[in-house]
Amino acid sequence: MNAKQFSTFSKRSLRVTGQGAIHALLQARELEKQGVDIIHLEAGELDLDTPSHIVEAAINSLHKGHTRYTSTQGTLQLRESISDYINTTRMTQTSPNNVVVTPGVKGAIFFAIMALVNPGDEVIVPDPGFPSYSAITKFAGGKPVLWHQYMDQDYIYDIDQLSSIINDKTKIIVLNNPNNPTGTIMSTKILESIAELAIKHNLWVISDEIYSQLYFNGSFPRSIFTLPGMAERTILMDGFSKTYAMTGWRLGYGIYPDNMIDNVCSIMLNDHSCLPEFIQDAGTAALQGPQTCVSLLRDELTARRDLVVDAINNMPYISCFKPEGALYVMIDISQITGVSSQDFAGKLLMEGVSMLPGSMLSKHGQNEVRLAFVANQNRISTAMERLDSTVAQMTS
Ligand SMILES: Cc1ncc(COP(=O)(O)O)c(C=O)c1O
Repeated sequence: MNAKQFSTFSKRSLRVTGQGAIHALLQARELEKQGVDIIHLEAGELDLDTPSHIVEAAINSLHKGHTRYTSTQGTLQLRESISDYINTTRMTQTSPNNVVVTPGVKGAIFFAIMALVNPGDEVIVPDPGFPSYSAITKFAGGKPVLWHQYMDQDYIYDIDQLSSIINDKTKIIVLNNPNNPTGTIMSTKILESIAELAIKHNLWVISDEIYSQLYFNGSFPRSIFTLPGMAERTILMDGFSKTYAMTGWRLGYGIYPDNMIDNVCSIMLNDHSCLPEFIQDAGTAALQGPQTCVSLLRDELTARRDLVVDAINNMPYISCFKPEGALYVMIDISQITGVSSQDFAGKLLMEGVSMLPGSMLSKHGQNEVRLAFVANQNRISTAMERLDSTVAQMTS
């Protein structure tokens, strides 16, 4: 392609970068096509099927002819189910009027940032963190500013560092609790300190709580949304992809403050009009139906987390932080000298295990590799054997 053709693309579109996990998944699938046995631990997509009562609800909805446009904001039935669910899990008071149903949590993030960020505005994002926060900020013309958490400090949230990166241009602080990829859960004390800074500097907060049901310490993570003075400046986001194994359904939502609803819905109207009604009906069935699938999922993930963490921390040269929530373990490879996270992930892929280089998730991720515990325990055990022998080859 010559330079003239290239310049026909908007500057905005050229600022956006692709997402590593999807790329790594496709690369691993290519090898699979050539007959290589690959254990997929790269993307945050569970190996489990969507529970059958949710699938049935979608099919019944289609048979009822729910195949037309609905309201952009989402069906009242789903919005009522979501506000009931949020009120029960977060012990708060939200109204269906504040719920906006979006194409995945990614959609909720996208429309919030597009509605809030002007060129030059700064958005504070966690690092390591979900890459879309920075990508969407850049697309909107804003500047992502990284709030670092470090592996050798057990990924603690340093409030002094946060305070030092806030300035007159700061517009939003993005939180992801529990966090992808570190697996940390923020304490109430940390949330209170962040809330104090947000109120003092008049900032918005995006609280991405997509992993809220995937906690391993016995208690539902506290949401910053519930702290005094925060509901009016916080957009709480959650969805169905992880909790109900519904990644491909593209269903999520945000609880937006009153004054943002019209703005966000106008952008959505011109983007996708509305979510399909049968998908929304499936979401209602997920929230109103039996929740045993969620507790079984949590138990299974706790067992997988323990399996992975015990195995890794018993291997020479590598170690990991024990995640408190979400789906991921960050592996410290700093003792294997002269090997980048990209090289390590590449070598491991050749040995039949697909993971994500830490450099795709963090500016300081060169010595880290992310493992998503999204395969069953047998496959994870085999992956641990392959990991052990790959490390042995690299260090012999
Ligand atoms: C932190 C975080 N937020 C949002 C998403 C996007 O989720 P959805 O499938 O609901 O768009 C992901 C997906 O992995 C994620 O890790």
